Amino acid sequence: MAKIIDGKKIRDYNLALMKDEVAELNSQGIYPCLAVIIVGSDPASRVYVNNKKAACENIGIISREYALPEETSTDELLSLIDELNADEAVSGILCQLPVPKQIDSDAVLERISPDKDVDCFHPENVGRLSIGNGAMLPCTPHGVMKMLEYEGIDPAGMHCVIIGRSNIVGKPMAMLMTAANATVTLCHSKTKNLSEMTRNADILIASVGKPKFVTADMVSEGTIVIDVGMDRDENGKLCGDVDYVNVEPKASYITPVPGGVGPMTITMLMRNTITAAKEQKKIKK
Ligand code: GUN
Repeated sequence: MAKIIDGKKIRDYNLALMKDEVAELNSQGIYPCLAVIIVGSDPASRVYVNNKKAACENIGIISREYALPEETSTDELLSLIDELNADEAVSGILCQLPVPKQIDSDAVLERISPDKDVDCFHPENVGRLSIGNGAMLPCTPHGVMKMLEYEGIDPAGMHCVIIGRSNIVGKPMAMLMTAANATVTLCHSKTKNLSEMTRNADILIASVGKPKFVTADMVSEGTIVIDVGMDRDENGKLCGDVDYVNVEPKASYITPVPGGVGPMTITMLMRNTITAAKEQKKIKK
């Protein structure tokens, strides 16, 4: 029987601390503010953006929404980003992905000033992450690290196997785990003998985007299993990348879906927004 890592509880714990921190900053005349850009009307993006705004409101961060029409051009979006980069009241800027096809998303992510890049997607911040001196940390991987920390799990010396090499999760997750002194194996769709790799994991992180992809035979007894997936099963029900029912009895710890890693992503976005506000005013932690 695994211990279930409760993402909502860890979110609430961290948000309560941040709420106090924001109040303290406010008393010094510093008002963290997140500008969220959404282009078009993708329903999932709308839910994510609403959740981000609600989290801001919950802890006293000012949020501004910029909803742009589906047919927005790259140049129009870049000029909005230029305005927000120059606006001293804005601490962090986030452009919800995916953007419509006509928009050059790389140009957009590179235009956001690195000191306001609360997603940690700008190449400068990705570079800083790789050498370990960045103020911004990638939200989902940072959320996973916070969950382990909360549970008293130190990855140092452990073998961390990650499935999925995306820029948002897999690759930055490998960097944070390396910085935490884990030994990292980064697997992906071309990996040979995947089950052999995963059975060797002390910590197994699944970020594949395929429902119930990680089956019980891929997991050894006592593994810490972190599920970053957000998928739908054959009945349209929300599930993760891990076959939870069959893997859970073998794991020592496991994150559920929903209620696991998901709530931590927005929590760490709040963390980056506060950090950005402090850095811009040159207040150190
Ligand atoms: N779309 C899905 N996940 C994310 C994220 O973490 N940040 C942004 N900006 N868009 C997303």
